[in-house]
Formats: sequence, C-alpha cells, structure tokens
Amino acid sequence: MKFSKRFDTIEPYLFVAISRTISEKKKKGIDVISFGIGDPDIPTPKFVLDSMKKHSDNPANHRYPESEGLPEFRNEVSEYMSSRFGVDVDPEKQVISLIGAKEGIGHASLCLIDEGDVSIVPDPGYPVYSAGCNFAGGEIYKMPLLQSKGWKPDLNNIPSDIREKAKMLWLNYPNNPTGGVADLDFFQEVVNFGIENDIAIMHDACYSDVTFDGYKAPSILEAKNSMEIAMEFHSFSKIFNMTGWRLGFAVGNEQLVQSLLTVKSNLDSGAPQAIQMMGIDALKNIEVFTQENNAIYQARRDKLSSALEEIGLTVEFPRAALYLWCRVPEGYNSASFTELLLEQCNVVVTPGTGYGEYGEGYVRLSLTTPDELVDEGVKRISKWKG
Ligand SMILES: Cc1ncc(COP(=O)(O)O)c(C=O)c1O
Repeated sequence: MKFSKRFDTIEPYLFVAISRTISEKKKKGIDVISFGIGDPDIPTPKFVLDSMKKHSDNPANHRYPESEGLPEFRNEVSEYMSSRFGVDVDPEKQVISLIGAKEGIGHASLCLIDEGDVSIVPDPGYPVYSAGCNFAGGEIYKMPLLQSKGWKPDLNNIPSDIREKAKMLWLNYPNNPTGGVADLDFFQEVVNFGIENDIAIMHDACYSDVTFDGYKAPSILEAKNSMEIAMEFHSFSKIFNMTGWRLGFAVGNEQLVQSLLTVKSNLDSGAPQAIQMMGIDALKNIEVFTQENNAIYQARRDKLSSALEEIGLTVEFPRAALYLWCRVPEGYNSASFTELLLEQCNVVVTPGTGYGEYGEGYVRLSLTTPDELVDEGVKRISKWKG
C-alpha cells in the first residue's frame, strides 16, 4: 500500500506503547501497578450519570447533533467562563463543543497551518500539539520548558525567522507533564507576543479546575486583548472523571472558534447531545464537586511525593494537574529509569522523553491510581536497587 509521506512523520501515540507493555506483562501473570496514563480511576459522579440516564431517554438526543453544540450547552459554558474567570463570551459565536479537548487540539492546526508553516509548541508538552501540525504538513519549533524558568517558555528566545513563519503557538497551564502553573502576567506577555507577531495563541486549559492547596488557575482569556488572538481548549475529562464520555469545548476569538467549527463540521458530527446535557449538569455543580475530587488527588500527591523524596528522588510539589514530574537518580536517563522500575518493581511510569527532548532526565507519575495501589506502588518503588 502507498501510505502518505505525511504518515511517516507521525510517531505511534505514546500511551499505545505503554498499554501494550502492561498487557504483555499481564499476559505473563505479572501484576503491574501503573502510574502511566492520566486517566481518573474515580468514577464519573452520580449526579452526572443520572443526567445521562435521563437525557438518553429523550429521542431528540438520538439524532445527529449540531457540530457547534446545543445552545443550552454553549450558554452554560458562557456562564461558567463568566462566573469562574470573569470572561464574557458570546455563546452563539465564541463557543463550540468538542468531542474531548484532544479532538479540537488535533483539528486546530488544519485551520492555520499550510505546508512549511510553523507551529510553536512547548517541550516537554502534550504530543497532540505537534501531531496536529504534522498532519497539516507544517513544521514544529520547540520552546523548552525549564524548571529554572518555572516551566514557562522564554519568548525572547524565539528567533525572528520563526516569528515570521509561525502561525500558532501552544501553551498548557496547569501544565502536563511538569505540573507548572502560569499567572496572568505571563499570559499577558504571550498575548502581546501573539498580537505583535500575528501568531494565534492556543491555550490548552484542560486541567484548569484540577488544583490543590486553594490555588485557582487563570484563563488566558482574562488577559487584555486576548480575544483578538487567542482560543482556549477545555475538557470535562480530568475535572469530572469523564475521560470515557468525550466532551470538551473551545472558546475565545470568534474567527478562530468559527474556523475550527468549519473544519469539524466537515470531519465529524459533533458531541452526542445526551453527553452535552451531562456537561451542563457537571458545570452547574463544578465548585462543590471539584472540592471533594481534588482533595483525593491532593492526598495522593502528598503521599506519593513524600515517599519518592524519602528514597532520594527529587520531585516538585505540583499545585495543579494530575502529575508528579520526578527527576531520575544519578546515572540514569528517562528510558533506563522507566525500564528499571518496570523490570525490577513492576511499576509503570512515563518516560519524560515521551513529551519531548527537554523531558530527558524526568519521569512522570500520574495521580490517577487508586489509593490502595498507590500504597503498594510506593512500597515497590522504595525497594529499587540502583
Ligand atoms: C494537556 C492535555 N490536553 C488535552 C488532553 C485531552 O483531553 P480530552 O480527554 O478532553 O481529549 C489531555 C489528556 O491527557 C492532556 O493531558
């Protein structure tokens, strides 16, 4: 068969390989504890499931949805943006539903990138920013995220030829995989950079409400003039334990949102309506629910990071998102330490290099492992022999 040249630029998706390793071990009868993928083990809350049961009975919800999403859903998103971030968006023009944030993130490059255009992405970073650009035939410029800079890129280091060729720049705060957070001053700097250089700013806010110790993450749309240049992606997956239901939304600059809708309406048929109705009920109760849910992750963060520190590993305490970004011990790199934990301890972590070259020297542990397995995982890791 004659596959496209473009297909050669696409790596197999990171977690496909990890899931394969786990299932091979399981086939051999070895029980593996996974701190790999960030997929909440806690079930979708009952009030959200009840909403699905109720709305799936309605025949109106059995038919094709509109690609942009139900007006009720877009109105609720607009309410949320206003009450949570103080951001005003027109639900008719500046909000669309997504079949999960990943879908919108992947498709967004098709709105802006032609052959040879550049997309600026964070490294380490969620691999879909680059994958979308590769599918669109564009080129990637990587901005390093360094601990010394608080896991934020230094925009001054982006060369002028890249500024000229770049059409879009991706950010993600609270950040996967580093756990870094951004304040409004930084968002303002990025918005100004986008306007000065005519580069669309794409902010992935999918962990915006997975926060600890009372921290509240801002939206980039709170920055002055952000509506001229920015689009933000939100997800129900991590905030409401809804990864399996597939729901998110894009919000922001009208032209960007409407161009994403044009791409989507040509390629998919929208998020199922009963699932959008679940999303409405979820957003109405976000404050109460996230307090309870985030407390569970916070306790795991505390337990796991203390245990890792006790055995001499260096971890930064994240204030948000679902991950511990852990420095590997002297004498190891991301791959060799990941392999050691798998072979010696039957524990799965994600090698930092899965998120880019600047992830070298780190592994990522997800907090989405049930409490009793966290205990067992910690016991196993503490027995590793260097
Ligand atoms: C940074 C980031 N963005 C987006 C997503 C995907 O979100 P969704 O499940 O809504 O597609 C993930 C999932 O792991 C993620 O880590």
